[in-house]
Amino acid sequence: MIGTAVISRAVPRTIRARLLAGLLALLVLTCGGVGVATTEALRHFLVTRLDQQLSDTGGRYAASLEHQGTGSGTTARGGDTRATAPGTFGARMMNGVVTNAGVVDGDADDPGVAAGSRPADTDDLVKLTAADQRALAALPVGGQAGSARLSALHSYRLRAIAGQDGDVLVTGLPLEPVEQTGHQLIMVELIVFAVALAATGVAAALWIRFSLRPLGRVVAAAEGVSALPLASGEVELAVRVPDDDSRTEVGRVGAALNRMLGHVEDALAQRHTVEERLRAFAADASHELRTPVATIRGHAELALRHPGPLPEPVRHSLTRIDAESQRMGAIVEDLLLLARLDAGRPLATEEVDLTRVALDCVADARAAGPGHRWRLDLPEEPVLVPGETDRLRQVVANLLANARTHTPDGTEVTLRLEQDGSRTRLTVTDTGPGIEPELAARVFERFVRGDRSRSRAGGSTGLGLAIVRAVVTAHGGTVELTSRPGSTAFTVLLPGLRQ
Ligand SMILES: Nc1ncnc2c1ncn2[C@@H]1O[C@H](COP(=O)(O)OP(=O)(O)O)[C@@H](O)[C@H]1O
Ligand SMILES: [Mg+2]
Repeated sequence: MIGTAVISRAVPRTIRARLLAGLLALLVLTCGGVGVATTEALRHFLVTRLDQQLSDTGGRYAASLEHQGTGSGTTARGGDTRATAPGTFGARMMNGVVTNAGVVDGDADDPGVAAGSRPADTDDLVKLTAADQRALAALPVGGQAGSARLSALHSYRLRAIAGQDGDVLVTGLPLEPVEQTGHQLIMVELIVFAVALAATGVAAALWIRFSLRPLGRVVAAAEGVSALPLASGEVELAVRVPDDDSRTEVGRVGAALNRMLGHVEDALAQRHTVEERLRAFAADASHELRTPVATIRGHAELALRHPGPLPEPVRHSLTRIDAESQRMGAIVEDLLLLARLDAGRPLATEEVDLTRVALDCVADARAAGPGHRWRLDLPEEPVLVPGETDRLRQVVANLLANARTHTPDGTEVTLRLEQDGSRTRLTVTDTGPGIEPELAARVFERFVRGDRSRSRAGGSTGLGLAIVRAVVTAHGGTVELTSRPGSTAFTVLLPGLRQ
């Protein structure tokens, strides 16, 4: 688990970085493989050539040691070094014991050598340790050459052959040139690979960036669409991805996105049409209902005013018809107002004296709800806002009516007006039981109201706060609710007059 987490943290997140990291990792592996293979191949080739040279010399130098040998100990001096490469090692063994050993020295100024006797080459005696002797004795006579490290000398390639008089002749060629060549090759390879890696890294980064550019355009288009307000109203989805070539992966994504945008655009256009039709229907229906409702109410009033005696059941029915048609008329007016506000019809922009509106509304509320305690908190200066007086009066009346009808007698209701810079704040606070959070979240929606049976009897329609929000929004303002038992506050913020 920890290992996986470490790996997933080490692997880059973006496609661009992942491609680059993967490519460079592959390249490092390839370079390493090529480096090891070429170095090994070169070494094998050079060693094979050494072995060939070894078999060509045929133990001549080692054999020549026999004649100049002291005959005792493990040292020798003065072998036949003609046509023998400097550094060549020779040794002669009798019964597994080295009798003579020497190495051809390329140094002509060797003081131990008589000038003129061997103009090109000289040779030096070599002291062999017991371990060296064992290594020499272990060589297969007449067999393959082998590598060994002689303590006095460098690593050697050694080959043993049988001499003429029962002795064993060992010839060796130094492996040092082979190793040096190998080291040089490794150095050259390291430099070449480093340059190749750097160049490939830069080129690949540019190429990947170039190749992924279409993806960037797709992302930009998708982000552009996601930033559009699609929730409601007429939406224009003009954004399209330019890359829609179905032969490329990004093109396929782009084409799919374009198709999806087309579908979304169709669906949004359809929704807009349906919304418009519904709005028109609501406006037409309420408009059409206005007249018959007014007529019913007019006739009920007329009948009630009939001079002759009316039987009590008939009077009761007519009173009910009058009251309900009045209520229905109010609902129709509310629906008509909402339909008009939905249509975005501009409001009148007169100078509304909110102080006056507040005084009037609280006076009305006091008359309608004498059981409540009404408070007004107004600033010294009259508060003026741009808007439509009747609509703003409706906002204040609805909020005060709610504070009256949805709270028990004795509740204190405060209407506060504040001028806050360029904004005007109107707050209606009551000390009633409050609104539960589930209801509070939806309370500004149409036909949303509390306890249905109780509310309906009290003339509740659930349109009051919907109208408050629609009117305030149409004035460029906002309305918020904060409620807990004992304190419910509706705060309306309205933009002030432009100076
Ligand atoms: N001040 C208030 N105190 C308690 N409940 C309230 C208050 N104002 C509104 N409500 C609740 O919000 C609901 C919606 O209010 P509203 O849209 O005005 O509709 P209505 O008053 O016709 O029921 C009400 O039914 C009531 O349950
Ligand atoms: Mg109400």
